[in-house]
Amino acid sequence: MKGIILAGGNGTRLRPVTHVTNKHLLPVYDRPMIYFPLETMIACGFKDILIVSGKEHAGHFLNLLGSGKSFGVRLSYEVQEEAGGIAQALALGESFADEGSVAVHLGDNIFEHTKQLVSGVARFQRDERGAMIFVKEVPDPERFGVAEVDGERVVRIVEKPKKPVSNLCVTGFYIYDANVFSIIQKLKPSGRGELEITDVNNSYIERGTMQFEKVDGEWTDAGTFDSLLRASNLIAKKVRKE
Ligand code: DAU
Repeated sequence: MKGIILAGGNGTRLRPVTHVTNKHLLPVYDRPMIYFPLETMIACGFKDILIVSGKEHAGHFLNLLGSGKSFGVRLSYEVQEEAGGIAQALALGESFADEGSVAVHLGDNIFEHTKQLVSGVARFQRDERGAMIFVKEVPDPERFGVAEVDGERVVRIVEKPKKPVSNLCVTGFYIYDANVFSIIQKLKPSGRGELEITDVNNSYIERGTMQFEKVDGEWTDAGTFDSLLRASNLIAKKVRKE
């Protein structure tokens, strides 16, 4: 299994800060945002990691992270020409995946702990079938993909529902078997004109091959001014404790 970090998109909710740079290069307390998904991928044991970013700032990722040698990993890069959605960015990882499964980390997601992600990856690797998502109880589920669960089963996921059926947000760490790329090929753009990762996840749910795990510890995205501040405070607290 290989790791893919998605760091494209336009970062429109962080304008004007993202006019001349990519969201994932902004600081989250003491490090550029992209360091956090990278550290998570490394904690999960991945040695081969792909970073997908937009064409305007792709070179900056190379300047910052290079070959990955200083992190003890091998980094590859792909350019998403236009922000056509998370699933479209993931599709660029098909040849990198080399017919194997992939763990996918959204570049603006920050996890306080990696324990469940690490054990989820290890569990998935036993048979490498289907998909796995990681959910977190949040006070503002309407901002995210929301999972409806029934015991051990995810029934469906609704993207940014006006009336969420639960407070379980689908976080930006996903594991997929190699079928994910043929699923993406069949997707149609959503109302916001994007290939949605939620449609990919619902396709696995329909096939009955989606597993889910709950995440302990704090989690946040960092794609709005409020969540970016929350992410910085979370990391500041963690760093001061260490
Ligand atoms: O943070 C978790 C949420 O992320 C999930 O709960 C939602 O189901 C999922 O759709 C996503 O929601 P957002 O609307 O907040 O995603 P956003 O457009 O901010 O994109 C998240 C990351 O995905 C971003 O940091 C970079 C990457 N991305 C996004 C787009 C649209 C790309 O690489 N390319 C893209 O075209």
